[in-house]
Amino acid sequence: MRARGKRIGFVPTMGALHDGHLSLIKSARQRTDGVVASIFVNPLQFGPTEDFKRYPRPLRKDTALLHSAGTAAVFVPDVAAFYPPEFKTAVSVDDLGDRLEGAVRPGHFRGVTTVVMKLLQIVQPHVLYLGQKDFQQAVLLRRMILDLCVPVDVRVCPIVREKNGLAMSSRNAYLSSEKKEQAAVIRRGLQEGKRLLRNGEPARRVEARVAKLIQSAGLSVDYVSVADRESLEPFRAKTGQAVLLAAAKLSGVRLIDNVLVDVT
Ligand code: PAJ
Repeated sequence: MRARGKRIGFVPTMGALHDGHLSLIKSARQRTDGVVASIFVNPLQFGPTEDFKRYPRPLRKDTALLHSAGTAAVFVPDVAAFYPPEFKTAVSVDDLGDRLEGAVRPGHFRGVTTVVMKLLQIVQPHVLYLGQKDFQQAVLLRRMILDLCVPVDVRVCPIVREKNGLAMSSRNAYLSSEKKEQAAVIRRGLQEGKRLLRNGEPARRVEARVAKLIQSAGLSVDYVSVADRESLEPFRAKTGQAVLLAAAKLSGVRLIDNVLVDVT
């Protein structure tokens, strides 16, 4: 495709595909000449007690979905070939990778930046498609691409949600339909937080209020943070562009979500 002067869009995934992933494929198809997707449950980005082993891997279903969505090629690397025993290199982004998700999941983003850098080298796309659902991941990958002059554009696409507002995630498959109803409180909490911020409520108070709302529905909160969209540092200004992020656990399943807030 490159040789023929075509623009290639790339959508990296860990599989267990849902409409969030498919929305990335759709956006990529609209703006490029052909889309490559990858499916790779990347062991480097899972902590020792996390769900690497039980992460869903419905490969046939995934490839069928990608095919019907008009994906030109699907790259499904083999773990042992991708990371042979002599593999020694990592890419990590200072500071940005240590906050929020990084504080709760040490080493996670080092795994993400390393795998995405390697995937980009192999696939050689013109445009990388990412979801806003993983806001911090998108910030880090943009930083890496700028810092290391990787010749690829980045597009971040909006969060796709279930009817009840819960952000779609492969990990939602671990939850029963009642639990999914319970988990929708994260979205409601973020919406309430956005309203409060726009009403001039100080960020700290908003964080506490949203955390309490989510907790009162029976989830255990990892963090609720009003952050700067680029530095991800706590947003404490009176006006500006912020992002309100939350992470919580329900029955051992970790869920994240976020909402952009323009504080005027
Ligand atoms: P995964 O969780 O499979 O997500 C793949 C891509 O889909 C990411 O860019 C993610 O932000 C996006 N996505 C997930 N849920 C979404 C939703 N509800 N709406 C819109 N986009 C959504 O993120 C990863 O895999 C991995 O870390 C990866 C980048 C592939 C590196 O291993």
